[in-house]
Amino acid sequence: LVHLLSIEGLPRDIVTHILDTAASFVSVSDREVKKVPLLRGKSVFNLFFENSTRTRTTFEIAATRLSADVINLDIARSSASKGESLLDTIANLSAMAADLFVVRHSESGAPYLIAQHVAPHVHVINAGDGRHAHPTQGLLDMYTIRHYKKDFSNLTVAIVGDVLHSRVARSDIHALTTLGCAEVRVVGPKTLVPGDMAQMGVRVCHSLEEGIRDCDVVIMLRLQNERMSGALLPSSQEFFKSFGLTPEKLQLAKPDAIVMHPGPINRGVEIDSAVVDGKQSVILPQVTFGIAVRMAVMSIVAGNDA
Ligand code: CP
Repeated sequence: LVHLLSIEGLPRDIVTHILDTAASFVSVSDREVKKVPLLRGKSVFNLFFENSTRTRTTFEIAATRLSADVINLDIARSSASKGESLLDTIANLSAMAADLFVVRHSESGAPYLIAQHVAPHVHVINAGDGRHAHPTQGLLDMYTIRHYKKDFSNLTVAIVGDVLHSRVARSDIHALTTLGCAEVRVVGPKTLVPGDMAQMGVRVCHSLEEGIRDCDVVIMLRLQNERMSGALLPSSQEFFKSFGLTPEKLQLAKPDAIVMHPGPINRGVEIDSAVVDGKQSVILPQVTFGIAVRMAVMSIVAGNDA
């Protein structure tokens, strides 16, 4: 694996290898073991053209734990604001001996463009591009599900909310399908579920009650207002009434169902505070597992270079 741009098309054995490698790093991400030398001497450039709390920070922690040098380019203060193009920015950072670019961008496909233009020894990891893909989030979600539920073959997983604008939903669907998940449901209003979902092998539900009934895993998504035009934008109260996950509605899922959310959460819009902080929530463990999963991805793409 030279780059990680999407989960779509990744063979099952590679996805499993990433999850197994992440499991081997959990003691390092937990700080029981401080550091491993797998990326010693390598330079990891974090390029976040769109805001982030979890992904950027956990990539930085993960690269540090792999002994890499980490450079966080402050995009708002970079010369991108003076009109420097994306590819010129990359060419100049490559001239500083970058080994790995971690890229988040509001334009779908930006990490692909970069991957086509870097030298063969330079790696690119997609940290979220537009509404297209967020592969490391998909992988950390799979790690979390495997941690709590062990086996995908008997699981029903519901992905609820603004599926239309969600790169996480697409990456999760590809990953769940690849790992042999028994049933994947996407749940949301007609305006926020894309038309191609049935072709992706998932069941589409336009009622929360139907969508989460007897589920093992409920993945909640926020309304991604930054990608919506006015006509699509539902009111927060209306959305919460129909699709907000409350403790009462969660009772429709299996009693041992886990609740996930990629974050950031909007309490009282897609999810009730009592669910966020409740005993079925694994939202914060997801964040912690993200460190080990990102260590795994970076070590697999860049750890075997001469
Ligand atoms: N889940 C996720 O991508 O969160 P951030 O936007 O904070 O990185």
